[in-house]
Amino acid sequence: MTAIKDIYVLQPEGKTWPVPQDFDVNFNWEYDDGRAAMMGLYAKGKQMQWDAETRIDWSQEIDEDNPEQMPEESLPIHMADCYLKMSRQEKATVRRHFQAWQLSQFMQGEQGALICAAKIVTQVPDADSKFYAATQTIDEARHVEAYKKLLTKFKVAYPMTKPLQDLIDQTLRDSRWDMTYLGMQVVIEGLALASFGQIRDQAQNPLCAQVNAYVMQDESRHVAFGRLALRDYYPKLTQKERDEREEFLLEASYLMRDRFDAVELWQNLGLPIEECAKSMYESGFMEKFRNSLFTRIVPIVKDIGLWGEYIQKGYTEMGVIDYAKADVQALQDNDEDIAKQFDARQRDIQRVIDRAQVAAE
Ligand SMILES: [Fe+2]
Ligand SMILES: [Fe+2]
Repeated sequence: MTAIKDIYVLQPEGKTWPVPQDFDVNFNWEYDDGRAAMMGLYAKGKQMQWDAETRIDWSQEIDEDNPEQMPEESLPIHMADCYLKMSRQEKATVRRHFQAWQLSQFMQGEQGALICAAKIVTQVPDADSKFYAATQTIDEARHVEAYKKLLTKFKVAYPMTKPLQDLIDQTLRDSRWDMTYLGMQVVIEGLALASFGQIRDQAQNPLCAQVNAYVMQDESRHVAFGRLALRDYYPKLTQKERDEREEFLLEASYLMRDRFDAVELWQNLGLPIEECAKSMYESGFMEKFRNSLFTRIVPIVKDIGLWGEYIQKGYTEMGVIDYAKADVQALQDNDEDIAKQFDARQRDIQRVIDRAQVAAE
Protein backbone atom coordinates (compact mmCIF):
# COMPACT_ATOMS: atom_id res chain seq x y z
CA MET A 1 0.00 0.00 0.00
CA THR A 2 1.44 3.38 -1.01
CA ALA A 3 1.96 5.80 1.89
CA ILE A 4 1.46 9.54 1.41
CA LYS A 5 4.86 10.31 2.94
CA ASP A 6 6.47 8.30 0.13
CA ILE A 7 4.78 10.21 -2.68
CA TYR A 8 5.31 13.80 -1.48
CA VAL A 9 7.14 15.63 -4.26
CA LEU A 10 7.77 18.51 -1.85
CA GLN A 11 8.38 17.80 1.82
CA PRO A 12 6.02 19.32 4.41
CA GLU A 13 7.73 21.22 7.24
CA GLY A 14 8.12 18.52 9.89
CA LYS A 15 6.01 15.45 10.51
CA THR A 16 3.36 17.30 12.50
CA TRP A 17 2.03 20.87 12.68
CA PRO A 18 1.39 22.03 16.25
CA VAL A 19 -1.13 24.88 16.57
CA PRO A 20 -1.19 26.39 20.10
CA GLN A 21 -4.63 26.53 21.67
CA ASP A 22 -6.12 28.65 24.43
CA PHE A 23 -9.78 27.92 25.04
CA ASP A 24 -12.12 26.43 27.64
CA VAL A 25 -13.52 22.96 27.19
CA ASN A 26 -17.19 23.01 28.16
CA PHE A 27 -19.22 20.31 29.86
CA ASN A 28 -22.99 20.60 29.80
CA TRP A 29 -24.90 19.14 32.79
CA GLU A 30 -28.41 19.70 31.55
CA TYR A 31 -28.70 16.94 28.96
CA ASP A 32 -31.83 18.64 27.68
CA ASP A 33 -33.58 17.49 24.55
CA GLY A 34 -31.94 20.11 22.39
CA ARG A 35 -33.31 22.18 19.56
CA ALA A 36 -35.53 20.14 17.23
CA ALA A 37 -33.72 21.28 14.09
CA MET A 38 -30.29 20.51 15.57
CA MET A 39 -31.40 17.07 16.79
CA GLY A 40 -32.92 16.42 13.36
CA LEU A 41 -29.56 17.14 11.81
CA TYR A 42 -27.88 14.85 14.34
CA ALA A 43 -30.32 12.05 13.45
CA LYS A 44 -29.59 12.59 9.76
CA GLY A 45 -25.86 12.57 10.48
CA LYS A 46 -26.19 9.17 12.16
CA GLN A 47 -28.44 7.67 9.50
CA MET A 48 -26.32 8.79 6.58
CA GLN A 49 -23.02 7.31 7.69
CA TRP A 50 -21.21 5.32 5.01
CA ASP A 51 -18.05 3.31 4.66
CA ALA A 52 -15.53 4.61 2.15
CA GLU A 53 -14.12 1.12 1.87
CA THR A 54 -17.34 -0.48 0.64
CA ARG A 55 -19.44 2.29 -0.95
CA ILE A 56 -16.76 2.95 -3.54
CA ASP A 57 -15.20 0.42 -5.90
CA TRP A 58 -11.49 1.16 -5.41
CA SER A 59 -10.42 -1.29 -8.10
CA GLN A 60 -11.36 1.35 -10.72
CA GLU A 61 -8.29 2.61 -12.55
CA ILE A 62 -7.10 6.10 -13.43
CA ASP A 63 -5.29 7.21 -16.55
CA GLU A 64 -1.71 8.38 -15.97
CA ASP A 65 -1.90 11.32 -18.42
CA ASN A 66 -5.17 12.79 -17.19
CA PRO A 67 -6.22 10.91 -14.05
CA GLU A 68 -9.51 12.73 -13.54
CA GLN A 69 -10.21 12.90 -17.29
CA MET A 70 -10.97 16.58 -17.04
CA PRO A 71 -11.52 18.78 -20.10
CA GLU A 72 -8.37 20.62 -21.18
CA GLU A 73 -9.91 24.03 -20.31
CA SER A 74 -10.02 22.98 -16.69
CA LEU A 75 -6.23 23.13 -16.49
CA PRO A 76 -5.81 26.76 -15.41
CA ILE A 77 -2.61 27.30 -17.42
CA HIS A 78 -3.81 25.65 -20.63
CA MET A 79 -3.51 28.98 -22.50
CA ALA A 80 -0.11 29.98 -21.07
CA ASP A 81 2.73 30.18 -23.61
CA CYS A 82 4.96 27.93 -21.56
CA TYR A 83 2.29 25.22 -21.61
CA LEU A 84 1.38 25.56 -25.28
CA LYS A 85 5.04 24.94 -26.24
CA MET A 86 5.28 21.66 -24.33
CA SER A 87 5.43 18.14 -25.75
CA ARG A 88 2.51 15.74 -25.21
CA GLN A 89 4.39 14.01 -22.43
CA GLU A 90 5.30 17.24 -20.64
CA LYS A 91 1.68 18.38 -20.78
CA ALA A 92 0.59 15.07 -19.27
CA THR A 93 2.97 15.59 -16.36
CA VAL A 94 1.64 19.10 -15.70
CA ARG A 95 -1.94 17.79 -15.81
CA ARG A 96 -1.26 14.97 -13.38
CA HIS A 97 0.62 17.24 -10.99
CA PHE A 98 -2.03 19.95 -11.06
CA GLN A 99 -4.77 17.43 -10.30
CA ALA A 100 -2.67 15.82 -7.57
CA TRP A 101 -1.86 19.23 -6.07
CA GLN A 102 -5.54 20.08 -5.95
CA LEU A 103 -6.52 16.70 -4.52
CA SER A 104 -3.74 17.05 -1.93
CA GLN A 105 -5.36 20.30 -0.79
CA PHE A 106 -8.66 18.43 -0.43
CA MET A 107 -7.01 15.75 1.72
CA GLN A 108 -5.06 18.28 3.82
CA GLY A 109 -8.09 20.55 4.21
CA GLU A 110 -10.18 17.58 5.35
CA GLN A 111 -7.70 16.98 8.14
CA GLY A 112 -8.26 20.62 9.11
CA ALA A 113 -12.02 19.94 9.11
CA LEU A 114 -11.52 16.83 11.24
CA ILE A 115 -9.62 18.82 13.84
CA CYS A 116 -12.09 21.73 13.81
CA ALA A 117 -15.10 19.40 14.18
CA ALA A 118 -13.43 17.73 17.17
CA LYS A 119 -12.68 21.16 18.63
CA ILE A 120 -16.34 22.11 18.30
CA VAL A 121 -17.32 18.96 20.26
CA THR A 122 -15.16 20.02 23.18
CA GLN A 123 -15.64 23.78 23.06
CA VAL A 124 -19.27 24.52 22.19
CA PRO A 125 -21.51 24.94 25.26
CA ASP A 126 -24.72 23.34 23.83
CA ALA A 127 -25.16 19.59 24.18
CA ASP A 128 -27.10 19.21 20.91
CA SER A 129 -24.26 20.87 18.98
CA LYS A 130 -21.77 18.49 20.61
CA PHE A 131 -23.88 15.52 19.47
CA TYR A 132 -24.10 16.76 15.92
CA ALA A 133 -20.41 17.75 15.73
CA ALA A 134 -19.49 14.23 16.84
CA THR A 135 -21.13 12.87 13.65
CA GLN A 136 -19.30 15.45 11.61
CA THR A 137 -16.00 14.39 13.15
CA ILE A 138 -16.38 10.85 11.80
CA ASP A 139 -17.54 12.27 8.44
CA GLU A 140 -14.34 14.30 8.17
CA ALA A 141 -12.18 11.30 9.11
CA ARG A 142 -13.86 9.39 6.29
CA HIS A 143 -13.17 12.26 3.89
CA VAL A 144 -9.47 12.21 4.77
CA GLU A 145 -9.52 8.45 4.22
CA ALA A 146 -11.29 8.68 0.85
CA TYR A 147 -9.04 11.43 -0.55
CA LYS A 148 -5.95 9.66 0.75
CA LYS A 149 -6.97 6.46 -1.03
CA LEU A 150 -7.60 8.37 -4.24
CA LEU A 151 -4.37 10.35 -4.02
CA THR A 152 -2.21 7.25 -3.66
CA LYS A 153 -3.44 6.25 -7.12
CA PHE A 154 -1.92 9.48 -8.51
CA LYS A 155 1.45 8.59 -6.90
CA VAL A 156 2.08 12.33 -6.36
CA ALA A 157 1.21 14.39 -3.27
CA TYR A 158 1.81 17.98 -2.18
CA PRO A 159 1.91 19.57 1.31
CA MET A 160 -0.83 21.94 2.44
CA THR A 161 -0.56 25.17 0.47
CA LYS A 162 0.33 28.31 2.45
CA PRO A 163 -2.96 30.23 1.95
CA LEU A 164 -5.00 27.24 3.17
CA GLN A 165 -2.68 26.81 6.13
CA ASP A 166 -3.08 30.51 6.99
CA LEU A 167 -6.85 30.21 6.88
CA ILE A 168 -6.91 27.11 9.10
CA ASP A 169 -4.35 28.60 11.47
CA GLN A 170 -6.42 31.73 11.93
CA THR A 171 -9.57 29.68 12.50
CA LEU A 172 -7.97 27.35 15.04
CA ARG A 173 -6.04 29.91 17.04
CA ASP A 174 -9.06 32.03 17.79
CA SER A 175 -10.34 31.21 21.28
CA ARG A 176 -13.99 32.17 20.61
CA TRP A 177 -16.12 29.09 19.84
CA ASP A 178 -18.13 30.72 17.07
CA MET A 179 -14.96 31.51 15.13
CA THR A 180 -14.28 27.81 14.61
CA TYR A 181 -17.72 27.56 13.00
CA LEU A 182 -17.30 30.69 10.97
CA GLY A 183 -13.85 29.76 9.70
CA MET A 184 -14.54 26.09 9.11
CA GLN A 185 -18.29 25.56 8.58
CA VAL A 186 -18.85 28.69 6.51
CA VAL A 187 -15.59 29.74 4.87
CA ILE A 188 -13.56 26.55 4.41
CA GLU A 189 -16.60 24.33 3.76
CA GLY A 190 -17.70 26.86 1.14
CA LEU A 191 -14.26 26.75 -0.44
CA ALA A 192 -14.38 22.95 -0.36
CA LEU A 193 -17.83 22.71 -1.93
CA ALA A 194 -16.81 25.03 -4.76
CA SER A 195 -13.66 23.02 -5.46
CA PHE A 196 -15.12 19.52 -5.07
CA GLY A 197 -18.06 20.48 -7.29
CA GLN A 198 -15.77 21.23 -10.22
CA ILE A 199 -14.34 17.71 -10.15
CA ARG A 200 -17.68 16.05 -9.43
CA ASP A 201 -19.35 17.79 -12.37
CA GLN A 202 -16.55 17.72 -14.93
CA ALA A 203 -14.41 14.64 -14.34
CA GLN A 204 -15.07 11.87 -16.83
CA ASN A 205 -13.24 9.44 -14.57
CA PRO A 206 -16.06 7.75 -12.60
CA LEU A 207 -13.97 7.08 -9.49
CA CYS A 208 -12.82 10.70 -9.12
CA ALA A 209 -16.32 12.06 -9.74
CA GLN A 210 -17.87 9.59 -7.32
CA VAL A 211 -15.53 10.31 -4.40
CA ASN A 212 -16.30 14.02 -4.66
CA ALA A 213 -20.06 13.43 -4.98
CA TYR A 214 -20.13 11.37 -1.77
CA VAL A 215 -18.00 13.81 0.18
CA MET A 216 -20.24 16.69 -0.96
CA GLN A 217 -23.31 14.86 0.26
CA ASP A 218 -21.86 15.07 3.79
CA GLU A 219 -20.56 18.61 3.41
CA SER A 220 -24.00 19.97 2.67
CA ARG A 221 -25.05 18.77 6.16
CA HIS A 222 -21.99 20.45 7.65
CA VAL A 223 -22.87 23.80 6.15
CA ALA A 224 -26.45 23.41 7.42
CA PHE A 225 -25.00 22.88 10.91
CA GLY A 226 -22.99 26.08 10.76
CA ARG A 227 -26.06 28.02 9.66
CA LEU A 228 -28.21 26.60 12.41
CA ALA A 229 -25.68 27.24 15.19
CA LEU A 230 -24.71 30.74 14.14
CA ARG A 231 -28.14 32.00 13.18
CA ASP A 232 -29.17 31.66 16.82
CA TYR A 233 -26.00 33.21 18.16
CA TYR A 234 -25.12 36.29 16.10
CA PRO A 235 -28.26 38.31 16.78
CA LYS A 236 -27.28 38.24 20.48
CA LEU A 237 -23.91 39.91 19.89
CA THR A 238 -23.22 43.63 19.81
CA GLN A 239 -22.70 45.40 16.48
CA LYS A 240 -19.02 45.81 17.34
CA GLU A 241 -18.66 42.06 17.88
CA ARG A 242 -20.43 41.35 14.61
CA ASP A 243 -18.18 43.86 12.82
CA GLU A 244 -15.11 41.90 13.91
CA ARG A 245 -16.59 38.76 12.35
CA GLU A 246 -17.44 40.62 9.17
CA GLU A 247 -13.86 41.84 8.92
CA PHE A 248 -12.60 38.29 9.20
CA LEU A 249 -15.03 37.13 6.51
CA LEU A 250 -14.05 39.82 4.08
CA GLU A 251 -10.35 39.20 4.58
CA ALA A 252 -10.89 35.45 4.08
CA SER A 253 -12.91 36.14 0.92
CA TYR A 254 -10.05 38.14 -0.60
CA LEU A 255 -7.56 35.49 0.39
CA MET A 256 -9.56 32.74 -1.31
CA ARG A 257 -10.14 34.83 -4.40
CA ASP A 258 -6.58 36.03 -4.89
CA ARG A 259 -4.07 33.83 -3.18
CA PHE A 260 -4.76 30.29 -4.32
CA ASP A 261 -2.23 30.60 -7.12
CA ALA A 262 -0.40 27.25 -6.68
CA VAL A 263 3.05 28.89 -6.82
CA GLU A 264 4.75 25.93 -5.16
CA LEU A 265 3.35 23.65 -7.85
CA TRP A 266 4.61 25.75 -10.77
CA GLN A 267 7.94 26.14 -9.01
CA ASN A 268 8.26 22.41 -8.44
CA LEU A 269 7.55 21.79 -12.14
CA GLY A 270 10.22 24.32 -13.13
CA LEU A 271 7.70 26.61 -14.84
CA PRO A 272 7.75 30.43 -14.92
CA ILE A 273 5.84 31.23 -11.73
CA GLU A 274 4.51 34.66 -12.60
CA GLU A 275 3.28 33.64 -16.02
CA CYS A 276 1.50 30.58 -14.58
CA ALA A 277 -0.03 32.46 -11.64
CA LYS A 278 -1.30 35.19 -13.96
CA SER A 279 -2.64 32.72 -16.48
CA MET A 280 -4.36 30.83 -13.67
CA TYR A 281 -5.94 33.97 -12.24
CA GLU A 282 -7.38 34.93 -15.60
CA SER A 283 -8.50 31.43 -16.61
CA GLY A 284 -12.08 30.32 -17.16
CA PHE A 285 -11.44 27.65 -14.56
CA MET A 286 -10.82 30.25 -11.86
CA GLU A 287 -13.72 32.36 -13.01
CA LYS A 288 -16.06 29.40 -12.55
CA PHE A 289 -14.40 28.62 -9.24
CA ARG A 290 -14.95 32.16 -7.93
CA ASN A 291 -18.59 32.09 -9.04
CA SER A 292 -19.15 28.85 -7.30
CA LEU A 293 -17.22 29.96 -4.18
CA PHE A 294 -19.27 33.10 -3.64
CA THR A 295 -22.51 31.29 -4.48
CA ARG A 296 -21.73 28.95 -1.60
CA ILE A 297 -20.56 31.58 0.90
CA VAL A 298 -22.32 34.93 0.45
CA PRO A 299 -25.94 33.74 1.01
CA ILE A 300 -24.85 31.90 4.18
CA VAL A 301 -23.17 35.04 5.52
CA LYS A 302 -26.40 36.93 4.99
CA ASP A 303 -28.48 34.13 6.47
CA ILE A 304 -26.53 33.94 9.75
CA GLY A 305 -26.99 37.67 10.29
CA LEU A 306 -23.50 38.99 9.58
CA TRP A 307 -24.97 41.43 7.12
CA GLY A 308 -23.97 44.82 8.43
CA GLU A 309 -22.82 47.83 6.47
CA TYR A 310 -19.20 46.75 6.59
CA ILE A 311 -19.63 43.47 4.77
CA GLN A 312 -22.23 44.74 2.34
CA LYS A 313 -19.88 47.50 1.30
CA GLY A 314 -16.98 45.04 1.03
CA TYR A 315 -18.92 42.52 -1.05
CA THR A 316 -20.22 45.30 -3.28
CA GLU A 317 -16.63 46.43 -3.94
CA MET A 318 -15.66 42.84 -4.70
CA GLY A 319 -18.60 42.62 -7.10
CA VAL A 320 -20.08 39.61 -5.34
CA ILE A 321 -23.01 41.10 -3.43
CA ASP A 322 -25.59 39.64 -5.85
CA TYR A 323 -24.63 36.11 -4.85
CA ALA A 324 -26.59 36.75 -1.64
CA LYS A 325 -29.69 35.85 -3.64
CA ALA A 326 -28.47 32.30 -4.36
CA ASP A 327 -30.76 29.54 -3.11
CA VAL A 328 -28.57 27.58 -0.69
CA GLN A 329 -31.25 25.04 0.11
CA ALA A 330 -31.63 24.16 -3.58
CA LEU A 331 -27.86 23.71 -3.85
CA GLN A 332 -27.80 21.42 -0.83
CA ASP A 333 -30.72 19.34 -2.14
CA ASN A 334 -28.92 19.04 -5.47
CA ASP A 335 -25.72 17.82 -3.74
CA GLU A 336 -27.75 15.06 -2.11
CA ASP A 337 -29.52 14.07 -5.32
CA ILE A 338 -26.30 13.80 -7.28
CA ALA A 339 -24.75 11.47 -4.67
CA LYS A 340 -27.87 9.28 -4.88
CA GLN A 341 -27.51 9.14 -8.67
CA PHE A 342 -23.97 7.80 -8.24
CA ASP A 343 -25.30 5.12 -5.89
CA ALA A 344 -27.95 4.15 -8.44
CA ARG A 345 -25.35 3.96 -11.18
CA GLN A 346 -23.14 1.73 -9.05
CA ARG A 347 -26.12 -0.56 -8.36
CA ASP A 348 -26.82 -0.81 -12.11
CA ILE A 349 -23.22 -1.75 -12.82
CA GLN A 350 -23.36 -4.39 -10.08
CA ARG A 351 -26.57 -5.85 -11.54
CA VAL A 352 -24.93 -6.17 -14.97
CA ILE A 353 -21.88 -7.88 -13.40
CA ASP A 354 -24.10 -10.25 -11.40
CA ARG A 355 -26.14 -11.18 -14.49
CA ALA A 356 -22.98 -11.80 -16.51
CA GLN A 357 -21.65 -14.04 -13.76
CA VAL A 358 -24.89 -16.04 -13.61
CA ALA A 359 -24.86 -16.41 -17.42
CA ALA A 360 -21.25 -17.60 -17.34
CA GLU A 361 -21.97 -20.31 -14.76
FE1 LIG B 1 -15.15 17.11 4.78
FE1 LIG C 1 -17.12 19.08 6.28
